[in-house]
This record gives sequence, C-alpha cells and structure tokens, in this order.
Amino acid sequence: MSIIINDVQLAAQLISEGHLCAIPTETVYGLAADANNPEAIKRVFEAKGRPLDHPLIVHVANLENAKLWVSEFPDWAERLAAACWPGPLTLVAKRSDKASDLITGGQDTVAVRVPNHPKTLELLELLSDAGCFGLVAPSANRFGHVSPTNASHVFADLGEYLTKNHDAILDGGSCSVGIESTIVLATSQAPKILRPGVITEEMIESITGLELDRDLQDSPKVSGALASHYAPKAKVQVLTEIDDREFEPQSGFIALAEVPTPQSLTRLAAPNSDEQFAADLYQAMRHADELNLDTIYIVTPIAVGVGRAIADRVAKAAHEKPSERE
Ligand code: TXA
Ligand code: MG
Repeated sequence: MSIIINDVQLAAQLISEGHLCAIPTETVYGLAADANNPEAIKRVFEAKGRPLDHPLIVHVANLENAKLWVSEFPDWAERLAAACWPGPLTLVAKRSDKASDLITGGQDTVAVRVPNHPKTLELLELLSDAGCFGLVAPSANRFGHVSPTNASHVFADLGEYLTKNHDAILDGGSCSVGIESTIVLATSQAPKILRPGVITEEMIESITGLELDRDLQDSPKVSGALASHYAPKAKVQVLTEIDDREFEPQSGFIALAEVPTPQSLTRLAAPNSDEQFAADLYQAMRHADELNLDTIYIVTPIAVGVGRAIADRVAKAAHEKPSERE
C-alpha cells in the first residue's frame, strides 16, 4: 500500500484499526486519529512533535455529532454552526465527558468543527455509521511549521513519522481556503475570535446578531497564537508598501497581482483577491524553501475581512507579535 491513498473506505478502515490518516479539508490538511483512541491520539502528538498540553480540534460529520463532545452550546453558537457548517469554523465550547484531557489539553473546553471537503465528509459519515463520532486532526505539519495544503506537503513534513502499510494520507487535491479555520470561543454571551480565518468578524456579527467580545485578556491558549508559528525556513519580512529599499539577494516576493515585482526578487504568488492570497500563501512559502531562498518579502493586503487572517498568519511567519486585532 502506498502512503498516499485515494480510497475513502480504506481510510475509514485504517482509522478504525487505530492507525493515523492525514485528511484533506477545505482549510489545510489535518493528521487524523479516532478521537476515542488514546494510543492513536498520542501518536498524533509524536508525529507532529507537538507538546501534549496543546489541545486538538475534534472533526465531526454534523452538528448532532458535535453535540456529543460538548456539554453546552449557547444559542448563538448553534446559529453560527447551522450557518457555517460544513465550513472553516471551529467552535470552542464547554466539554462533555466524552472529550478526554488528551484532546482538550486538560482544559474544560473542547474545539469542534465540521470540515467542508467531500472526501472527508464521506469519511466522517462512514465512521459515524460505524460508531466513531469524531476525529482529532491538528494541521498535518511538524509543530511550528507551515500548514500543508496538499498531500505532498503532508508527505514532506510527516512521511518519515508515518508507518508504511498502516498509516496513510488521503489525497483530496489542493485545499481551497488555504489557511486554518476561524476559531470562536463559545462559552459566554458573546462570541470571541481566538484565531481569525475566512469566516470573518463581520460575518460572525451578522449571523449571530451579536457584537464580538474583543477583550483579548484571559483568552484560552491557542498554539497558533504563539509568535513563531506557521513559519517557513526562509526569513519572512512584512512590507506595507514598496519603497526604494535594498532587498536581500536570493529573495522571494508575495503580493496581490496589482503590485509589481521589485527587480531582483523571485515572484512566488500573484493572487487576484484576498481569498486567493490565503489559498496561495502556504504553498508559496513552501516553494521558497524548495528554491532555498533566504528571505520572503510579503506585502499583506489591508487587514480587514479575510485580510485580517492573512496579516495574522504572515506576522506569525515573520516571528512578529500578532498585530492588534482592532
Ligand atoms: O482549519 C483547521 O482548523 C485545521 C484543519 C485540519 O481542520 N486544524 C488546525 O488544527 O488548524 P491545529 O491543531 O493545528 O490548530 C488548532 C488550534 C490550536 O491552536 C489549539 O490550541 C486550538 O485550536 N484549540 C483546540 N482546542 C482548544 C480549546 N479547547 N481551547 C482553545 N483553543 C483550542
Ligand atoms: Mg496547526
């Protein structure tokens, strides 16, 4: 059996037997294991090189299955789930007894999401019919590295940690969204964004009819909130505009198509919209590393809507403190 597979039934079988299978989602690929199997979950942490106290998202087939892991959803969270699932939204809510400490990092909350990818939805439904109601699936990269947006990225990061003839990578093509889901804390009266994504502040306020809680004090821990996350090997430099600076040699350039490439830089992506920018970003960073570039200059779009999520990921790749989410 080759590590990269196309067969959803086989993926379901491997997971039921306690093996690991990377899965495609609309955002990024995840490294999945049966959320009821502690040994398999421990292997996920090992393969990623991720500290054990960093909680995992439970991926489920539908809202009904999500409720098995959660003890309490505020009404607004159910409205948000109904409007956005399947889709790039993760809800963090009070956990039920089913959600073990291994999944939640010992916290009293659990993260759940219904991903929007036809193969993974089919897989989750097959497993649900067989009595497995959730998969843990952190992004399928080594800890701190850029998330993978196609099957060969997963293989490049995790191939050596997967066991031949047991673990697998389910190939679902390139991810359409390209950056991780929006994470919303759903434990109180007002939604609070823990990680921005393509489900934007504006969308959440309009769907729930509530104003966001923008108090960033005492938010729960989100590993993506560490500075130095989502980082390629190349140094990332954020530009707000093109000036007549001297660029480092051996450097790459990422900006919206309307921004011309400065002389001497290698163009890595020229997206036409913020959505396309998000879809191209990680692939372009990985390409810079393949080309052995030393530096990547990135002109980020204006930090509103999807642009806010892009600015967040680029700042983390640049090892900068995330910009204030005004
Ligand atoms: O788009 C995504 O969300 C992808 C795909 C595969 O679904 N998954 C993903 O997982 O990005 P991961 O593990 O790389 O990032 C999940 C984030 C982590 O920063 C983690 O700290 C946070 O979710 N998280 C998980 N459970 C949490 C909880 N109970 N409270 C607060 N944050 C939590
Ligand atoms: Mg991750």
